[in-house]
Amino acid sequence: MTEISKELEEKLFNKAEEMMKRSYIPYSGFAVGAALLAKNGTIYTGCNVENAAFTPTNCAERTAFFKAVSEGVTEFDAIAILGGKDRKVSDLCTPCGVCRQVMAEFCKPSDFLVLMRDGQGAVKKQLLSDLLPESFGPGNLL
Ligand code: THU
Repeated sequence: MTEISKELEEKLFNKAEEMMKRSYIPYSGFAVGAALLAKNGTIYTGCNVENAAFTPTNCAERTAFFKAVSEGVTEFDAIAILGGKDRKVSDLCTPCGVCRQVMAEFCKPSDFLVLMRDGQGAVKKQLLSDLLPESFGPGNLL
């Protein structure tokens, strides 16, 4: 998907923001919420889940992807992401490199939209292919 309706965009951001309440963030205090739109229309949500050993921390985006994949869904159109300190949306929350790579596993990067919104309501939409150019993906192993 390279375009999204305002209505669907709003729905995704609302669900993502709701997930910031569930973020398990005793170490950073930085909450992130994500809402992942599957090609079948289902929306999978996720929050970040931190860990005392730090490395096992799972980002909100990957939580959403892994929930979907574990339910048998592997095709996606878009993801909405927002985050901030003290569970308040602040600056645009761009996905980390690991999450970008996970996204690339389950979509065509030039056909997957990443939606971000800051605390003032400014929205940024980017294709995954712009966020992760020349990515290494499943096709490389064929
Ligand atoms: N985090 C996410 O969940 N998604 C991102 O895109 C960036 C970072 C989380 C990981 C950690 O729990 C906290 O934000 C601070 O890095």
